[in-house]
Amino acid sequence: MHDSKTIGLLQAPLGQAGSGRVRYGAAMALWRAGLISAEVLEVYRVAAAHDGRDPLAVLRDHGLPLPPLSAPASAVRQLYDAARAYLMTLDHPGAAEVRAGLRLDPGPERPVAGRRNAMVDQWLAPALSAVETDRPGLAAAIRAAADRLEWVTYDAYPVERIGKAFANGHAFASLVGETGAPFAATDFDMGLFLIAPGVLYRDHHHLAPELYAPLTGPHGWRFGVGRPLTIRPAHHPVWNPPHQPHLTKVGDVPFLALFVWTRDVNDPALVLDADDWQRLEDESLA
Ligand SMILES: [Fe+2]
Repeated sequence: MHDSKTIGLLQAPLGQAGSGRVRYGAAMALWRAGLISAEVLEVYRVAAAHDGRDPLAVLRDHGLPLPPLSAPASAVRQLYDAARAYLMTLDHPGAAEVRAGLRLDPGPERPVAGRRNAMVDQWLAPALSAVETDRPGLAAAIRAAADRLEWVTYDAYPVERIGKAFANGHAFASLVGETGAPFAATDFDMGLFLIAPGVLYRDHHHLAPELYAPLTGPHGWRFGVGRPLTIRPAHHPVWNPPHQPHLTKVGDVPFLALFVWTRDVNDPALVLDADDWQRLEDESLA
């Protein structure tokens, strides 16, 4: 056991009646978990009867290692830190708004009902295999936290407008946001976005200014109905100012991106009209 409660008990205030035994109890839990040695535990045992004796001072005097004094960050918090570190390095229009919303300390972590999603079960692993080749730390952080996030397959688009392939072939999970996200924010959203290989995310637009930071690639993009696709590699940020049309044609690897909406997150996205979706859906990028 190595949670913040145990760590707190280990540091029960010196001099408080019974605190020696409380500290010893916490040390016992750490010893059982293999986190401190029998020698260190013995110092806490001897000090148990002396509420005013500081076991840390005794450990220092004897040159013994100190026990862990802070709980490790959760997998979700580690993912926030890794995602933030990645996003802070990107240069693009709108970078100032993105950075302003990504606080060094995102505040207390709210419990989120980790939600399984068949699409995520199928496509996250191959996406992460690709990310592992050039961003292994970020890939590991996503893998460790993925089951604790609330993955959502967005259903606000009418299926006949957005197409069946996209409707069933994508999922996103917020890390920072108003609802369903472990870290609370007002009118700001950051998270992961996953789309199955080959899927076309048809032309659409929204009021929210948006950053896509694709961790995989190459994928196809266009920023106006009827325009040709431009192919962009992984790690090439895409910034969509308010109401800029955008379309994504996923390549052979699943599309995995960090996304950020910097404001107006509750304004719905709208699908535009175009007459070449069928062709774009049928052809593959390569
Ligand atoms: Fe968008």
